[in-house]
Amino acid sequence: MQTVRRSEELAQAVAELKRGGTLALVPTMGALHAGHMALITEAKRRADKVAATIFVNPTQFGPGEDLSRYPRREEQDARMLEEAGCDLLWLPSADAIYPEGFATTVHVARVSERWEGEARPGHFDGVATVVTKLLLAVRPDIAVFGEKDFQQLAVIRRLVADLNVAVEILGLPTVREEDGLALSSRNAYLSPDERGRAAALQRALSKAGDAIRAGAPVASALQEAKQALVDAGFLKIDYLALVDAATLEPLDGARGEMRLIAAAKIGSTRLIDNIAV
Ligand code: PAJ
Repeated sequence: MQTVRRSEELAQAVAELKRGGTLALVPTMGALHAGHMALITEAKRRADKVAATIFVNPTQFGPGEDLSRYPRREEQDARMLEEAGCDLLWLPSADAIYPEGFATTVHVARVSERWEGEARPGHFDGVATVVTKLLLAVRPDIAVFGEKDFQQLAVIRRLVADLNVAVEILGLPTVREEDGLALSSRNAYLSPDERGRAAALQRALSKAGDAIRAGAPVASALQEAKQALVDAGFLKIDYLALVDAATLEPLDGARGEMRLIAAAKIGSTRLIDNIAV
């Protein structure tokens, strides 16, 4: 695996890889776990060459969020990528992505505005801007993302369609711990007691999904799920909703392709999860 930091080296490394066939890109913020590695594995199946990026993108963190304490494990990450057969690792500096005078923001209206967008103002502008930059710098055939961040995936699909970026966006299922908790670098912030209770988030969503599939009224299924979270010790529920899977608009009845999405805090750690219905 080749590791590059400077944009000038990147162009050459990418050109080289593309001579070997199709190229898949897997953007990450590092602190890699089995969820990220599943993206690399599938990327390798789908394309001849795989490039990964690690960039803890400052513009998608709000004031008071965990930018400064976000886990950084570059060496371990590089080893894991190498072992998984990744061909290229790009570690851009913040200056390379946001040079002096940087003034452009990609804002994806509507699909980015509710839920995470409301709880974390500016977050999706930061995501959309950096993902656009990474896609333009590498111009991969395929870019791979996790359904773990379901709204992020919908925002990226929208921006790629709207800006005519010639890339196939591939969304992959969430990798989970044995008790159902979605893998996330933020799980490391949980105390043992919180960790024990955190899987209630996935259980509440599954139960609500089953109820809705069985014909229960959506409002009561959501209410029951919220109560289950409170009972498990979640302190603040930012949202727990049934939404249209493409637009993320809330649904008050079962129709079309649907997703149950939630964000809630346990202790000081904010967890998000979602399931298909
Ligand atoms: P990060 O949180 O590092 O996630 C990188 C990719 O891994 C995302 O596509 C995310 O959805 C996926 N992922 C995370 N946990 C997963 C899990 N348990 N199962 C499957 N996939 C999982 O998401 C970001 O970084 C950033 O916002 C980024 C897109 C890199 C832009 O900065």
